[in-house]
Amino acid sequence: MLRSRLVGFGGHLPSRVVTNGEMATMVDTSDQWIIERTGIRQRHFAADGELTSDLALAAARKALAFAGMQAADLDLIVVATATPDNTFPATATKVQAALGMTHGAAFDLQAVCSGFIYALSVADNFIKSGQARSALVIGAETFSRILDFNDRATCVLFGDGAGAVLLRAEQGTGKLSDHGILSTHLHSDGRHYDLLKVKGGPSQGQNVGYLHMEGREVFRHAVANLTAVLEETLAANGIGPKDIDWVVPHQANKRILDSTARKLDFPPERVVVTVDRHANTSAASVPLALNEAVADGRIKQGHMVLLEAMGGGFTWGAALARI
Ligand code: ACO
Repeated sequence: MLRSRLVGFGGHLPSRVVTNGEMATMVDTSDQWIIERTGIRQRHFAADGELTSDLALAAARKALAFAGMQAADLDLIVVATATPDNTFPATATKVQAALGMTHGAAFDLQAVCSGFIYALSVADNFIKSGQARSALVIGAETFSRILDFNDRATCVLFGDGAGAVLLRAEQGTGKLSDHGILSTHLHSDGRHYDLLKVKGGPSQGQNVGYLHMEGREVFRHAVANLTAVLEETLAANGIGPKDIDWVVPHQANKRILDSTARKLDFPPERVVVTVDRHANTSAASVPLALNEAVADGRIKQGHMVLLEAMGGGFTWGAALARI
């Protein structure tokens, strides 16, 4: 059977770092409150004129360089984003053009913070079905543009960035010892549409508004849904927490990471954490964390990694992969 092997990793953060202290000059908050409730110490904000596509392109180039591949080798680009440059066309097509790729297909996918897991699953299915031999999967966001800087309960939580993973088809045996994506598991429940959303939008005849979130409700659902999808992933593969080398979670809040890891008995030292430095970068958070742990040598060839995320919609999902 065909497997999607993860052969390239890249990440890019805008150069501007915004500390909790700087946030406290904008809203009535404090470094202590933000750290205690979220684990966040700082975030990166894009400069004026620095777009989601710019961040995506930088991450994409690094993933291509990591894999020693050219844009000409790509069949597919999927960009997971809730903050595209324009309502249309897809940001992915802008990245495609900037890379100099004139063949294949490029499109955006929108599942907010779960976007990267969704995009990975879609690209994996393209590869497994033989429709693409290689795919660049990017999570890229400029959430700083949709934050309400009058709402201290949300504006301190998010940051900007992009991460990318390059997938290449490889013949596998169908066993767990294969390298590549072993399984993906996606869920959504649209009854919770209003708990986490950006107001306005084209079909309402309104400009894009600001992010609104019922934080406590989101927190409660996040821990329950993530625990369930992680259990589902382990069970589907007939493995337990001890078989996982690294958990790479969506970086929303350190307390969500800790509660989920505790419920499943994952040792905290096996969970990749970037939320302290990146805050919540939505679809970019999982590939940014994955890239960081590969780059610093924590995640090595042969390691089994479990990726998971939950976001607006609600959407949530997980992916199991051997690097
Ligand atoms: N600084 C200081 N005080 C604050 C701040 C702030 N930045 N924000 C809220 N407060 C205050 C509130 O006004 C409230 O004050 P009051 O008691 O006088 O009314 C108090 O702190 C408690 O507010 P809560 O909202 O109840 O605080 P809570 O403990 O629930 O923490 C938080 C808020 C951090 C947002 C939490 O609910 C949370 O983490 N939720 C999950 C959010 C999340 O991670 N979302 C993303 C996941 S999905 C995705 O990634 C898209």
